[in-house]
Amino acid sequence: MNTLNNQLLRQDFPILHQSIYGKPLVYLDNAATTQKPQVVIDAVSRYYSTINSNIHRGVHYLSQQATDAYETSRKTVQKFINASSIKEIIFTRGTTESVNLVASSYGKANIGAGDEILISTMEHHSNIVPWQMLCEETGAILRVIPINDAGEIILEEYQKLLTDRTKIVSIVHVSNSLGTINPVKLMVEMAHERGIPVLLDGAQAVQHISVDVQDLDCDFYAFSGHKLYAPTGIGVLYGKRALLEKMKPYQGGGDMILSVSFDKTTYNDLPHKFEAGTPDIAGVIGLGTAITYLQSIGLDAIESYEKELLNYATETLSKIKQLHIIGTASDKSSVVSFVIDGIHPHDIGTLLDREGIAVRAGHHCTQPTMKRFGIPATTRASISFYNTTADIDSLAKALKNIITMFE
Ligand code: ALA
Repeated sequence: MNTLNNQLLRQDFPILHQSIYGKPLVYLDNAATTQKPQVVIDAVSRYYSTINSNIHRGVHYLSQQATDAYETSRKTVQKFINASSIKEIIFTRGTTESVNLVASSYGKANIGAGDEILISTMEHHSNIVPWQMLCEETGAILRVIPINDAGEIILEEYQKLLTDRTKIVSIVHVSNSLGTINPVKLMVEMAHERGIPVLLDGAQAVQHISVDVQDLDCDFYAFSGHKLYAPTGIGVLYGKRALLEKMKPYQGGGDMILSVSFDKTTYNDLPHKFEAGTPDIAGVIGLGTAITYLQSIGLDAIESYEKELLNYATETLSKIKQLHIIGTASDKSSVVSFVIDGIHPHDIGTLLDREGIAVRAGHHCTQPTMKRFGIPATTRASISFYNTTADIDSLAKALKNIITMFE
């Protein structure tokens, strides 16, 4: 394996060094959520023990310290995805809220009866349901790009579905249930040829591959903190400034206003216009710390290590003849989803758990993807840079034992 000093990095994650049912923990459920390095845990704890106070409101020292820390994290996020301005970085509760914000604010203003919204078959429910809700409200129509048997978007079909009726394209960057990395730069280009804006769901991308929103030229990019080694309950919506400026606030309340009277309220500038109420200050600080931690390892090193580990996992699991991998795209990241003849994924997940191996079993919030493959569920092992070939070997050994039990 390549140069990443994985054993040293594992020491940064206290949770990894424990036994579950007497077996060393093998954590392979990173697509559901990643573990937190000590620096992130410390940053959150330090915030509460030294500078806890409300931001943007207080003249006192603690409030200014908290505001500085919060806004420094925004700058860290801006640089991390190479947005052109901090005004383009909106803190939300997660990818789900980011997509809902766009569907609600941009959607209601720009999408009407008969207009089309284009998504793909491999979307997470959080990039399906907000658009369906918009369709119900406005009479717009949801169109779905088909995928092939490998779990790749069929680009010719995508091209055909882009029409004058299409008002937005909303696509997952990396699939959570198949691992497919979609050719999003090309897809954005194709949509832009017709002047159609594109939202990318980056929940499973930002922690594995470098993302440059200016290079991708996407109009919106959404991701979550907790899949990026940061706390739960914090996420990001990137939006091009010109679009965000025109959009109406998603929620009303404190901090998102300049002035309020019973006759008229004027809204605050970007990004505060979209951050009503007291935000998850500790979460934002934790997110900035997690990004700085990842950058200290280097996204390129992480990407190349994880690619090698994914190849190792794919090869190792493919040797089990009763096991079938679901999602075999030529460009993949960090996820091995599989079914085993005659054994339900939930039984596999439960039996693996007894061996101290954490995976996810189920439809992974992608029921239409499961339907496309004619299965109700898969077992999914999803990797991080702190996983090792020994973790994969433990998984393969446990799976072979489970298969023997069912024979
Ligand atoms: N979206 C998360 C997953 O794929 C929860 O497991």
